[in-house]
Amino acid sequence: MTAVAVKKLKSLAGIPVAPAIALCRRLAGGKLTYPEFGSQTVDMDDLILARSLLDSPDIWDDVGPIRRFERQFAAWNGSLGAYTFMGGRVALSAAIAALRLQPGDEVIVPGYTCIVVANALIFSGVTVRYCDIELGTYGPDFDSFQQLVTPKTRAVVVQHTYGLVARDMEKIIEFARSAGLYVIEDCAHAMGASLRGIHVGNFGDIGFYSMEQSKVLSTFNGGVAVSNNHQLLERIGDYQSQAPYPSKDRIRRLLINFILAYRLQKSPMRWMTSGYLRNKHGGDILHSTTETEINGKMPAEYGQRMPAPLAILAENQLGKIDDYNKKRKDAALYWMKRCVEKGFTVPLILQDSRPVFLRFPIMAPSGRKYDLRWCKREFGVKQGFWFTGELHPVARQMDTCPNARNAVLSCINLPTLGFEP
Ligand SMILES: Cc1ncc(COP(=O)(O)O)c(C=O)c1O
Repeated sequence: MTAVAVKKLKSLAGIPVAPAIALCRRLAGGKLTYPEFGSQTVDMDDLILARSLLDSPDIWDDVGPIRRFERQFAAWNGSLGAYTFMGGRVALSAAIAALRLQPGDEVIVPGYTCIVVANALIFSGVTVRYCDIELGTYGPDFDSFQQLVTPKTRAVVVQHTYGLVARDMEKIIEFARSAGLYVIEDCAHAMGASLRGIHVGNFGDIGFYSMEQSKVLSTFNGGVAVSNNHQLLERIGDYQSQAPYPSKDRIRRLLINFILAYRLQKSPMRWMTSGYLRNKHGGDILHSTTETEINGKMPAEYGQRMPAPLAILAENQLGKIDDYNKKRKDAALYWMKRCVEKGFTVPLILQDSRPVFLRFPIMAPSGRKYDLRWCKREFGVKQGFWFTGELHPVARQMDTCPNARNAVLSCINLPTLGFEP
């Protein structure tokens, strides 16, 4: 049987072929080329902690660890205060409530985001208007934003995509201030990124972050909202206090999924054990965005606050974030060099900004976005496809957003953790 034929087989005698070939290459001194994008900041100490939390349901109701993490996060982030939720999307819902956005109000959002961002607004009855992005930092484009402002506009969402600081943030904020609009910063990808030494999320009225397993740090699911305005913080706190905790069964599943996500995405043994793990835990595996949400509906467990065990995991993860962000930066410098050598346009690093490079985005040549072999040949790794639609994962081609369409068609992301340069 030829090597090509072996590669075409998914599995040989129960052993998955592609990862097995990768392992053999690795044993022969080759480099790891198939990093996953999730759970890359999760280590053995996090797993031990998660296991001990699974065995201690008596502390699942404590408020102390939640408040402790929120204080630590606010201090690390340079914010007046922070509140935790079950997802960046819920933190955004808290922001919408705190800003008193009402049905009939319009909010401008970049047309290159996640469906859950649009949903959070739509669930509140707010009308979403999508502006285009610029292709330097994949953030909202000022001119496109400005053209969408109407007397009904109440707020704009500035998204710091892939951990880059959005190119037009300051112009948008200046305009918003003069027009009496609120600014919500979507920092789901950009925890720790800064401009002139100030962390993103502190420039607008409210900032929110994600701790979902593919983000800068992971509690499997989770989010934080921050503000530097006392009244807005009080209102975010009110939203949190009326939000339910996940059920005990859900907390158990979240902790199992935290461990499982590591074993499926980061563990060096994953090539051998992932099939078995998927069989064993199939029914327990949670997906961060459900079919219900993809279809624009609110899932039953939407709107929850974060329970103590996840806040304890978050605290442990926060202790490593600066080190991991430094590793990401080193990887980005490596990709920067490789891309320049190969003639690819590299992402824009705004002057005086420090991106966190959750991923390293570039535009692939036409028709190559999903071509694994091409990327492996060019860069030696498997690429990420984020975003696969204007409202990821939902494709929504919009006349007002031609750059977003280009990015959906061509933007690939190179990993910044979990591979060896
Ligand atoms: C740009 C952006 N904003 C918000 C979110 C939502 O974060 P979460 O999954 O924590 O709700 C995501 C999720 O991937 C995202 O990519």
